[in-house]
Amino acid sequence: MTSQIEEFYASIAVPSNFEETKKQIQKFCERHSNQKIVLVTSGGTTVPLEHNMVRYLDNFSAGSRGSASTEHFLDRGYAVIFLHRLNSFEPFVRHFSGNSILDMLEAKGDDLVVRREWVGAVAPVLQRYRAVRADGRLLSVPFSTLGDYLWLLRAASERLAALGPRALLYLAAAVSDFYIPPADMPVHKMQSDAGPVNISLKMVPKMLGPLVSSWLPRAYVVSFKLETDESLLLQKARRALTTYRHKLVIANLLKTRKERVVLVTADAEQEITVTAEESSSGVEIEAKITAELLLRHEQFIAASAGR
Ligand code: PMT
Repeated sequence: MTSQIEEFYASIAVPSNFEETKKQIQKFCERHSNQKIVLVTSGGTTVPLEHNMVRYLDNFSAGSRGSASTEHFLDRGYAVIFLHRLNSFEPFVRHFSGNSILDMLEAKGDDLVVRREWVGAVAPVLQRYRAVRADGRLLSVPFSTLGDYLWLLRAASERLAALGPRALLYLAAAVSDFYIPPADMPVHKMQSDAGPVNISLKMVPKMLGPLVSSWLPRAYVVSFKLETDESLLLQKARRALTTYRHKLVIANLLKTRKERVVLVTADAEQEITVTAEESSSGVEIEAKITAELLLRHEQFIAASAGR
């Protein structure tokens, strides 16, 4: 398996900002080495169909789960590495998506100020954002393609390994299981006058395997399991746990992912829900998920210290 993973990495391009990003992650991990750090992955992954990419395969994930969870982890005192797909939702600014900044501002003399009707919405978010900035507890790392994501996931995991049990991985990104190896990809845009195209996709190796067994074996690793068929969901979540032997799988269905998840561990299952009333009063399911994970992670740290 290790050689299969090494061969896979050798076949995909390293992201352009890789060395610089690794340094930033290293610095962030050193700065917060006495705290709990969570790596949150978020958004979908782009699978290029051409080297000079015009077309690509994608998936639905908007990054709502990852960006909302990041804010709640920050509220609970974690330092967060937010590994997210470029242009997906980001913490804090996500609250204003769909609104143009130009509609929120007005000119007052030489100044630009937030329009009165927006102040109530902007001020509390701005305050939380400024507090997080002031103590440098959020490192935002963007990626675009599947290859970029996998390089950065491994680099961040290897640096977080030094924290032992204080590292939490929260793998919410929707990662493609299929790709076209660069060696099989055309260099230039596929030409429609050449007729229909047959595309053969290869399997992406499951990175949970090496991540748990060798990149950071002492961390608290949480993966997600997304299905569209309820009858498969829990059995596949349990199977992921027995295969990769990590700590917890959060199972969710595409249609109900904002209202219900199931936390699956080796010996128990716990459902977390948000009612319609809670939802309309602004309660997010990620607040409940992160509250529960904080408890479980702290118990894990305490148990690891006793070993
Ligand atoms: O962003 P939103 O719109 O809010 O949606 C949130 C979400 C539905 C994307 C999120 O809650 C979620 O379920 N994310 C995981 C989706 C997914 O990729 O599930 P999966 O069953 O295909 O993969 C399971 C796990 O294996 C994932 O944690 C993934 O990180 C991991 N994986 C996947 C592929 C791969 N090659 N290697 C991996 O390790």
